Amino acid sequence: MTNEWDDYAGGWNVDKTVEEYADKAYSELVKNCDIEGLTVLDFGCGTGSLTQLISPAVKSIIAIDSSPEMIKYLDMKTLDNVTSISEYLSNELIVKRPEFESKFDLIVASSVCSFLPDYEATLSLLKSLLKEGGVFIQWDWLSNDDSSDMGLTEKRVKEAFESNCFVGTKISSPFIMNSSKGNMPVLMAIGKNA
Ligand SMILES: C[S@@+](CC[C@H](N)C(=O)[O-])C[C@H]1O[C@@H](n2cnc3c(N)ncnc32)[C@H](O)[C@@H]1O
Repeated sequence: MTNEWDDYAGGWNVDKTVEEYADKAYSELVKNCDIEGLTVLDFGCGTGSLTQLISPAVKSIIAIDSSPEMIKYLDMKTLDNVTSISEYLSNELIVKRPEFESKFDLIVASSVCSFLPDYEATLSLLKSLLKEGGVFIQWDWLSNDDSSDMGLTEKRVKEAFESNCFVGTKISSPFIMNSSKGNMPVLMAIGKNA
């Protein structure tokens, strides 16, 4: 089955900006979380730029992306402790796939959440996959307008974290990246499953 992201996969895999975004996200991740030995879900992993950076330190990664082409490039990286899934994340999938039988210490979502048709519902699904004390972390373009088609506002993210009862929520904009609209801040949100 093809996917709207398939056409971007080849270019995405060699795009220096994608690499830079992943480097910056990774650097913020390890500042905020000791990732050594963790079990990780990389939601919307794309071609695996961030997956590849996280892989050496953690126990295992389930890397899921709905684009088969994106997953094809991730698989070419042959990362020993990474299992890829080329599917949309859904309740049905979680029930069906053995990879979701155990919950995760850490879930990362790099530049994914703002593209979801229902961010709030997906956040609830992701939280259900966290162990007690597990951490969720996302990065997205920071928008100042809820009606914009690019990015998420701090207010929307804050409310979504609150309604999903995350604890210790921290929302910041730790770095700036070049986008189709010029330089834009990136929002990072971190929350724990109590
Ligand atoms: C902007 S790309 C980011 C890819 C990667 N995280 C990165 O930073 O390079 C967004 C990715 O999210 C994936 N995606 C969007 N909605 C998804 C869903 N519901 N389930 C799984 N993957 C999804 C897309 O296929 C696409 O590869």
